[in-house]
Amino acid sequence: MDPSRRTALLAITTTGLAVPGTVLAQGSKNPPAPIVPAAFAGKHLPKPLPFKPGSLKGLSEQLLVSHHDNNYAGAIKNLNRVEAELSHCDKDTPPFVVAGLEQSALGYRNSATMHELYFGNLGGDGKRTAKIDKALAEAYEGASRWEELFRVTAMGIAGGSGWVVLAFDLRREVLRSYWSGGHPMHQALAAPILVLDMYEHAFALDFGAAAAKYVDAFFANVRWDEAEKRLEAAKKAAMALR
Ligand SMILES: [Fe+2]
Repeated sequence: MDPSRRTALLAITTTGLAVPGTVLAQGSKNPPAPIVPAAFAGKHLPKPLPFKPGSLKGLSEQLLVSHHDNNYAGAIKNLNRVEAELSHCDKDTPPFVVAGLEQSALGYRNSATMHELYFGNLGGDGKRTAKIDKALAEAYEGASRWEELFRVTAMGIAGGSGWVVLAFDLRREVLRSYWSGGHPMHQALAAPILVLDMYEHAFALDFGAAAAKYVDAFFANVRWDEAEKRLEAAKKAAMALR
């Protein structure tokens, strides 16, 4: 292993965190400006909430701000940390270290994405658009039939945690719901259309363990026009993948 890389790796294992470029530059009189590839940059920034947090029905400002600032922003912060750690790994790094970091990166990346989609499909009036109604009718006999199963799925994981997602399967070109018990578990090659966060941090502050009331509040605030936009984009992506 290159001695400077070994020094960098030691710095990680002893401090727990190193910033890309800074360790390698130590001891050099004229260190070159660090060029950090995107995979190692650790420069992700949280997006602001796409609605006024005090404006939703039945979901408090305190809950939404806490969810955004702690859980979502925390995932971004940890993704940045993992990328910084990965920048110092190479073929001589123990495989379990790299595999663990890549697993963490997947979890934090998915958490960030799913939270952005979750917040992005809130802030509406809960009324389905005609196109969404039609699409759900084709897929599930009717939108109310789909919603019934989606709600029961949410309650099925309410004692634990996870995501409930209505997604467009890009391979089969159909709308289907699924749930995931962890951030790295999502359907392959599917575009999330409607995302429901069933982790306790998403509702316990307002509803305690009464998850059904949270699911009611979620549906009252769904932005179905955003879901329709995602569905239209997913259909185009599916056609491009044929
Ligand atoms: Fe969350």
